[in-house]
Amino acid sequence: MTAAAIIKAYNLIGYDAVAVGSQDLIAGIPALKSLSKDSKFPWLSANLVNKVTKKPLFTASTSIKLGTIKVGIIGLTGPAILETSDNAVILPWDQVLPALLAKMTKKDNLLILLSNLPAADNKKIAESYANIHLIIQSGASSNTISPSPINNTIMLSTAPQGKQIGIMEINWQSSQRWEDANAVALAAKKASLERLDVQLRQYANRPETEGTLNSQAERLKVYNLLLAQKQNLQGEIDLMETKASRQIPSDTKLSTYNNRFIAVAIDLPDHPEVSQVVTTLDNAISAIGQRQAESAATLKSSPYLGFLGCGSCHAKQLASWQQTQHAKAYRTLTAKQQQFNPNCLSCHVTGIATDRGEEALSIADDRRSVGCETCHGPGRSHSENPRAYPLPRRPSPELCRTCHSAPHDSNFDYDKRIKLIEHH
Ligand code: HEC
Ligand code: HEC
Ligand code: HEC
Ligand code: HEC
Repeated sequence: MTAAAIIKAYNLIGYDAVAVGSQDLIAGIPALKSLSKDSKFPWLSANLVNKVTKKPLFTASTSIKLGTIKVGIIGLTGPAILETSDNAVILPWDQVLPALLAKMTKKDNLLILLSNLPAADNKKIAESYANIHLIIQSGASSNTISPSPINNTIMLSTAPQGKQIGIMEINWQSSQRWEDANAVALAAKKASLERLDVQLRQYANRPETEGTLNSQAERLKVYNLLLAQKQNLQGEIDLMETKASRQIPSDTKLSTYNNRFIAVAIDLPDHPEVSQVVTTLDNAISAIGQRQAESAATLKSSPYLGFLGCGSCHAKQLASWQQTQHAKAYRTLTAKQQQFNPNCLSCHVTGIATDRGEEALSIADDRRSVGCETCHGPGRSHSENPRAYPLPRRPSPELCRTCHSAPHDSNFDYDKRIKLIEHH
């Protein structure tokens, strides 16, 4: 629901392209495919491909025209967990980029890579391909990263959850070369030199009002220090300037950019149509919250008690169960950020039928593991009157196999494995 609203908003804002990120795959490829049908922009991934044909499941790249400039855009997906039924793989970037680049750079003047790969991979890409001019990375950090050039590639990073808007003004020249890293550093040095000059002038001109000899000597010391700094800086600048003039032919026109991030604050004006989409979504989410609050009230009447309740009378069994992998099954999902994936949940929690995974999203914390009641059945009545409501002792092999079956566990041996989970 949130995803559908985001896509509506992106359509209104006028996105040209987005890359498929690992987060986008959490609900599965079929879900993303159906969402992408409502998008007016392409979803790009050159490396998320069919396992057999190796053809991209989405679009590898796209081209847009901005004035006289053709802009090529490529998407790369970062590591993600895929369902076997998706019949898909995420290939390493070096298996897909070379061929794609050879095809693209002929037509496209400015090449942008939207990358969901880890920062270290992006750095390697920048070092290997000077003809990728801009890498915008997502998911690599929790904050924006200002542009940093590597060879002829500028890398920058977006903040998650749309908290910042990045604006980059580019003056693109046919040389297809950026004003190089040195030039940027040189400009920074020149700016510090100017600041030093201002400080020096202030020291030189300051009238001596309450000038004791001591403060006079102190002032001279600071003044000389600043002067030495200035001479140092001037030396560095001269050196960089002679170097730069040797490297690049003076008739080459270099491309320049300037970049800033704007925090998306409450007080920024709203786009009326987008804000309508957000309000509708907010209302729908509150409605669900309402229903969940109601279901929290009904949790108490659920036939499942949760392992903590069982443990109050069966401390020994609780202690031994806590040593098993069953007790950690939910944490296994959180470690992989799959705890909201209905396709995973039913087997990694207690008392949810395999085809009702989404119900597991709103269960109590002490059912978030393969708990006591997975094997002994729901026990609320038992806990209130153990003798009137006895629970079965030994779970059947069929029960284990509701979870321990292909593709998750293909060669389950009941007699061997039951020994590992009995309470000793
Ligand atoms: C109020 C204390 C209490 C709570 C809470 C409780 N039990 Fe029991 N349980 C007992 C008692 C007492 C017996 C023995 C009943 C008997 O001998 O007939 C028993 C028996 C059992 C047995 C059968 C053991 C056998 O030898 O046949 C199982 C299995 C069991 N409980 C599981 C659970 C589970 C699972 C929970 C949590 C849902 C739970 N119990 C909660 C008191 C409790
Ligand atoms: C509700 C689903 C479910 C049921 C039913 C279930 N298991 Fe499991 N079992 C799991 C999951 C999930 C794991 C893996 C937990 C993890 O590592 O995060 C697991 C792990 C195990 C392990 C540990 C595997 C290892 O390599 O350490 C054993 C042993 C095991 N189960 C035995 C059984 C037996 C025996 C039964 C039947 C009495 C059973 N399980 C019933 C879901 C289930
Ligand atoms: C039909 C039941 C079932 C479903 C659905 C299921 N699992 Fe599991 N999972 C198991 C069982 C059973 C085991 C234990 C396998 C074993 O003992 O070898 C397990 C083990 C695991 C493990 C630990 C062992 C390993 O292979 O590294 C991970 C991680 C895991 N599952 C993740 C997931 C994710 C992610 C999903 C959803 C995409 C998922 N599971 C869906 C039953 C299931
Ligand atoms: C993966 C399945 C499984 C889970 C989960 C599980 N049990 Fe058991 N439980 C068994 C098996 C198997 C036995 C032993 C049956 C036998 O000896 O015949 C057993 C036996 C028992 C007994 C009888 C006394 C004993 O120790 O043999 C009690 C009580 C019990 N379990 C309570 C619990 C409680 C409480 C929890 C959760 C903290 C729990 N069980 C979790 C499978 C499980």
